[in-house]
Amino acid sequence: MKLVLLGPPGAGKGTQAVLLAEHFGGPHISTGDILRRHVAEKTDLGKKAEKYIREGKLVPDDLVIEMVRTRLRQKDARKGFILDGFPRNREQATALDGMTKVDAALLLFLDPEDLIKRSTGRRVCENCEAVYHLLTNPPKKPGFCDRCHSKLIVREDDREETVRRRIEVYEEQTKPLVSYYKTKGLLVQVYGSGIIDEIFERVIEALSQRKR
Ligand code: AP5
Repeated sequence: MKLVLLGPPGAGKGTQAVLLAEHFGGPHISTGDILRRHVAEKTDLGKKAEKYIREGKLVPDDLVIEMVRTRLRQKDARKGFILDGFPRNREQATALDGMTKVDAALLLFLDPEDLIKRSTGRRVCENCEAVYHLLTNPPKKPGFCDRCHSKLIVREDDREETVRRRIEVYEEQTKPLVSYYKTKGLLVQVYGSGIIDEIFERVIEALSQRKR
């Protein structure tokens, strides 16, 4: 399955992507995670991307497109992948069409106020990038990752003001991709409210309906 995940910040793309990657067997490729790793490691790309991420803006297309092209060439992504956070505008979508043929684009949607609560309560593992939420998906031991026991941190772009900015950027630049994929007959839409496992069931059902 070559699957693209669309949806506003906090809709649950990363959370569902982990489950989908386990289910379908391909890698979970999150452009946000890759960029944050570059920032933490202070690579050239990380130094260029940092201010855009901090301000809730999109990192320039040329940087992100090359990054994805390189990642999709790796052996583990040849048969399938869950692409989370890319494409985010028309130029990126066109570039992706030139790299590979995707099987479906899954849109997770949610009410705006729920998006804010999801993002401001999020905690991420500083080591393995596992995602938690203070209220809805807390770790067993407060402040520490269940998987690798490292410290949980707040993402720098999860301050409320920056989350609102990221939602605006989504509305202006990424939302038009919903009709882009609908026109191609590839769009699958799932409401992202409810228990994580129930949403996953809805996603699998919606994807299987599409294939029939
Ligand atoms: P990125 O990391 O891609 O962030 P995003 O798209 O804004 O999405 P989020 O990670 O905020 O949310 P999500 O939908 O994955 O939700 P999650 O599952 O974590 O991008 C960050 C930045 O990188 C961008 O702003 C940009 O600067 C740059 N960037 C990345 N890609 C780029 C590109 N292609 N081009 C240019 N720039 C790019 O869930 C959120 C919270 O809710 C968590 O705490 C989770 O535990 C909780 N939760 C999840 N599901 C549920 C549920 N069902 N019920 C209750 N709580 C839930």
